[in-house]
Amino acid sequence: YPPSPPAPIAYNGTKLVHDEAHPWKPLTKGDIRGPCPGLNTLASHGYLPRDGVVTPAQIITAAQEGFNMQYDAALTATYAAMLVDGNLVTNLLSIGGKTKKTGPDPPKPAIVGGLNTHDVFEGDASMTRADAFFGDIPGFNHTLFDQMVDFSNRYGEGYYNLTVAAEYRYHLIQQSIATNPNFSFIFPRYFTGYGESVLALNLFVDGRDNTTVLGGRKLDMTTALSFFRDSRFPPDFHRVSSPTGSEGLREIMAAHPVRPGRNLDGKINNYVVHEPSPSELGGCGLYNHFVDKVVALYPNPKGILRRNLIINLHYFYGMFENSCEETFPYGRL
Ligand code: HEM
Ligand code: MG
Repeated sequence: YPPSPPAPIAYNGTKLVHDEAHPWKPLTKGDIRGPCPGLNTLASHGYLPRDGVVTPAQIITAAQEGFNMQYDAALTATYAAMLVDGNLVTNLLSIGGKTKKTGPDPPKPAIVGGLNTHDVFEGDASMTRADAFFGDIPGFNHTLFDQMVDFSNRYGEGYYNLTVAAEYRYHLIQQSIATNPNFSFIFPRYFTGYGESVLALNLFVDGRDNTTVLGGRKLDMTTALSFFRDSRFPPDFHRVSSPTGSEGLREIMAAHPVRPGRNLDGKINNYVVHEPSPSELGGCGLYNHFVDKVVALYPNPKGILRRNLIINLHYFYGMFENSCEETFPYGRL
């Protein structure tokens, strides 16, 4: 029976997180890393199992403990990922590629491909990872990182700050429009794209830096490289001083408004706005979107699979409780 999400952590101020109990260790044979530098780092420091095969509860606790990620944000991201990329029978999720370690697969069209799976959660125009069209989804891409450094020099005096986040995000979108014939930037990627741009700023900056209110927060490039490439906390790293999620997202969206859309007919420079479907409109778009995705992957679940789908969908609904109506595509328990 999939356990309930863990409660929010009790102490949520700053503290040393690169401590003696959580040393960085290099990968050993079979260890899995993926497209998320946050989860990669948590695994390489033992906040998550070092092999990269994890449960939702482990992610929710680790993201709060290691990075002081805001509880609701951690919960939503985790169950969204679990529902589309995880094994709902064994309650295991790979933070990277598909693996036998998550157990036997349920029937297709279920994917159970881990976070590397393109176009369910992972998507295009990532900060330091190439678009799926170009091949390596999870691999650190030095060319992209160099562009981030360049933008930090041009707009942030060498640091990644809120202005750089807005400019670099816009650049990534324009670059993919111009180079990737399959470029897609629709829901939910439209939100997670902007989300990752602020998460890097919000959670990779040391918590002892008291200038880290949103407007003044800035990430140096040595620290950035340590997280994005090496999955590693800088020496002596302290997590941010209060629970933080996607603060700043609206600001960077507003700086260069882009509508959700994609390059149509496999042609570059052919970005066509994708009018959101009814289920994507309004504040409940994210919730409804993932419910629709799940139903597409699991059209006719039986037994434990059906039971666990119902349970995980309900956990995912948790943070939409006050704003959206819950739907029950598989009935109730
Ligand atoms: C990217 C999942 C927590 C920072 C991603 C991606 C996934 C993901 C699937 C790939 C998206 C893409 O670029 O195509 C999750 C889940 C989390 C989580 C399920 C559960 C809590 C975190 C945390 C941080 C973080 C705690 C920061 C400390 C980032 C950043 C990227 C990213 C900066 C962009 C990487 C890049 O494009 O170079 N995440 N993440 N995430 N995540 Fe996470
Ligand atoms: Mg990506």
